[in-house]
Amino acid sequence: MWGGRFETGPADIMREITPSIDFDKRLAREDLAGSRAHVRMLGSEGIINKDDAKAILSGLDQIEKEIEKGQFVFKRELEDIHLNIEARLAEIIGPCAGRLHTARSRNDQVVTDFRLWVRGACERADAALFQVQRALFAQAEKHAATIMPGFTHMQPAQPVTFGHHLMAYVEMFGRDRGRFEDARKRLNESPLGAAALAGTSFPIDRDATAQALGFQRPLRNSMDAISARDFALEYLAACSICAVHLSRLAGELVQWSTPAFGFVKLSDAFTTGSSIMPQKRNPDAAELIRGKTGRVIGDFVALATVVKGLVLTYGTDLQEDKERVFDAADTLELSLRAMAAMVADLTAQPDKMRAAAEPGYPTATDLADWVVRVLKKPFREAHHIAGSIVKLAEQKGVALDQLSLAEMQSVEPAISEDVFKVLSLEASVNSRMSFGGTAPARVAEQLFFWREKLK
Ligand code: ARG
Repeated sequence: MWGGRFETGPADIMREITPSIDFDKRLAREDLAGSRAHVRMLGSEGIINKDDAKAILSGLDQIEKEIEKGQFVFKRELEDIHLNIEARLAEIIGPCAGRLHTARSRNDQVVTDFRLWVRGACERADAALFQVQRALFAQAEKHAATIMPGFTHMQPAQPVTFGHHLMAYVEMFGRDRGRFEDARKRLNESPLGAAALAGTSFPIDRDATAQALGFQRPLRNSMDAISARDFALEYLAACSICAVHLSRLAGELVQWSTPAFGFVKLSDAFTTGSSIMPQKRNPDAAELIRGKTGRVIGDFVALATVVKGLVLTYGTDLQEDKERVFDAADTLELSLRAMAAMVADLTAQPDKMRAAAEPGYPTATDLADWVVRVLKKPFREAHHIAGSIVKLAEQKGVALDQLSLAEMQSVEPAISEDVFKVLSLEASVNSRMSFGGTAPARVAEQLFFWREKLK
């Protein structure tokens, strides 16, 4: 491609380190789209003649078919997807193939392809997240009033409902979708026509190529167009945060499905056995989703490290951008699909959840709130009274509502029989009626909010 001034070929080690075709062949479709937009524009601007443009377009069509049928031969000596396609084009249509690269460089070509690819990846992540949300929603709908222990510090805190807990993840994944949507919107500007770095002397129409490729507009600064990879970093950041959310849910599933908890059952289809312990039902998919989060965050850190300190504009360092993004996309999409399937598969075990919600005095806050409401004490004082009653119950080895009224009154004489109404798990949950609270009526509101959106 650059034989003009070179006398010898590359060293053997250069043939090993330089090629990117093994991974950037994934950009073939985007590369063809970019070339089509470019050559149509060259033709309509009279930069190349119409017949040449036509010949190039028909050659690109044939290449597309060859790639689709798996007949295209990708060659490492041709380095990357751009040179592979251009070389094949020359084989098919002859020397006029060389006109395609007028007013273009591989620098704007590769980043055009890459933006198009990441744009598609944002859309796929959104669609996969939608399915996870739907699976969570379906379970939450069934269990809007199913009582389970709510934890802080992994200690029993206050009873909540399983539906409420699951809807928390619907919210998180909803924000993840927002991040992919934002990333998609921001990246959707065209670098094509920035050429090597400085623009071109040919009278190109960047608006036309931008529009043909579905971009909002051409990027304003050619040097920015060539150098910027923040769109890829932003995508990877969105992937990382989403993977962190997945890992939290995966961690819960691991915990919930262990017999010590037994809150959910995963079917045979979503568990694996042990080669030595016949009783085992391991939640491998959940563990793998949790583990793969490390890869995705690693992909972000790796690319941020590549770009850090890199002077404008293009450096071949940037060839390292694609594998990180491909890996994160593959990993995240697989994890999202596995999570959606696993959530749909699980069977909640309401009896186990309820039994686990009993110990640990989870209605102690309700007792303190009652003292505030009925005895008009300041909350801090009420907290102290409730704490002393918990201590008493602990000494007797009973639950709060198993204490007698007289025992309660030994701590605070003004306590009346009425207090027992607030000490059950149901009463506690039902009373959490503040906006966003765990009362089934409030959970029903959340479900109502999401139902249309998840249709
Ligand atoms: N394979 C290269 C990449 O992935 C394409 C751009 C190469 N440009 C260049 N001037 N060497 O970034």
